[in-house]
Amino acid sequence: MKPAYLISLLVVLGLIGMVPTAAAQSRNTLVPAGHLQYAPGPIPDRVILVLAQNPESSQTVNWRTNYAVDEALAQITEAHDGPGLHLTAREVTGTTRPRTSESGLAHHHSVTFDGLRPNTLYAYRVRGQDTWSEWFQFRTARQSFSPFTFIYFGDAQNSVRSHFSRVIREAFMQTINPAFMLHAGDLVNLRRGIHGDEWGEWFDAGAFINAMVPSFPVAGNHEFVYETDEAGERTRVLSEFWEAQFSVAGNGPPGHRETVYFVEYQDVLFVALDSMRAIDSEESAIVQARWLEEVLGRKDYRWVFVSHHHPIHSVSLGRDNPALREHWMPIYQRHGVDMVLQGHDHTYGRGANVPEGAMMVDQTVGTVYVVSVAGPKMYFVSDVARQRMDRLGEDVQLYQHIEVEEDRIRFESRTVTGRVYDAFHLVRESDGRNRLEERLPTGMIERICTNPDREREDRCWQGTELVD
Ligand SMILES: [Fe+2]
Repeated sequence: MKPAYLISLLVVLGLIGMVPTAAAQSRNTLVPAGHLQYAPGPIPDRVILVLAQNPESSQTVNWRTNYAVDEALAQITEAHDGPGLHLTAREVTGTTRPRTSESGLAHHHSVTFDGLRPNTLYAYRVRGQDTWSEWFQFRTARQSFSPFTFIYFGDAQNSVRSHFSRVIREAFMQTINPAFMLHAGDLVNLRRGIHGDEWGEWFDAGAFINAMVPSFPVAGNHEFVYETDEAGERTRVLSEFWEAQFSVAGNGPPGHRETVYFVEYQDVLFVALDSMRAIDSEESAIVQARWLEEVLGRKDYRWVFVSHHHPIHSVSLGRDNPALREHWMPIYQRHGVDMVLQGHDHTYGRGANVPEGAMMVDQTVGTVYVVSVAGPKMYFVSDVARQRMDRLGEDVQLYQHIEVEEDRIRFESRTVTGRVYDAFHLVRESDGRNRLEERLPTGMIERICTNPDREREDRCWQGTELVD
């Protein structure tokens, strides 16, 4: 073949190959166009522990298989040193939900282990088609207060396997016996629908960590998808994959049980709220507020953490959420909520809130508000936040390492390379008030965006340009 014909042929083949690639690829995962990476199979995958209301005696596990597995079956035993775990294991059954994505029809399973002993190491495995998962281990919580450490992540959302993996794995490497991992919403993007590949990447990023360290998932705006009715009216509804993959405690108010819930971990209260529904509907904001007030009034918890996706005080420009301040912030102040853990703004921001409602440094603080980001989508800090918040950051992937002690919370926000970016202690004084001690590391200057090649002028990184 003459060189000219060869070149022409290669050009044509190249174009044929390129056109569908460019049209089909979402640019948000590492999965090449046309490749089926995350089809469900006989071997269980996406195994994840989700915190139950009382983690000293219960533990929920979710996993996925192909549709041939129509019963949710798991085995559990107190862990021992030999391989004969099956000899002492008991079997527990649960529920199965079918879900269809681009990866095909899958069965999503859920089992809750009840009647567990506190502070005990358990081994468990889950059933596939004529096979099992590997044995995993987890430790139940203690009956009453004892110091523990948990990890909090802001949005993973984009290019999750490519860029969130490093964060969750580094956090796991650097934390001894994490009690659980809190995800403050926008775990994946889901912008145009189901996106099974995005969920595949999220579960790949956490991998076996998810099956050993329980999760406390909080829903963000990207966990909702749009449905259009016959009249063409668009409404936002929770993705059906949320409840299939995360069987949360289910103790929230009616109509909100998949996303609003609480967990009592060793006498410390953790509450997940649904800020997306609250912003879409004032009625929802009020329903959640009344429920929260009732939960907070039940008993005196040693510490109270609330998490929701949209911030009470936004860090980035043009993202104000006044409905949350109107309906929820007064409850935080009245009941002494210690910390609110948030996401959504793709920046870092931390501020204490004095009773007057302004953000400012004050030695005696009310609620401390944090916004963080784990994935690669990065926005800019607003001028208002710059005036009012104590610590800010742009263009920095973070996880939060939070040690909960009897009279002190040791809070560290760490970069993906393990450097302490922000730190403070919240100290419980003898009169019951909190005092904030700054522990900012010396020499750690505030990070600002330095990306010279921005896809959008108003964003430091889109997060989707990084996988091409
Ligand atoms: Fe968001």
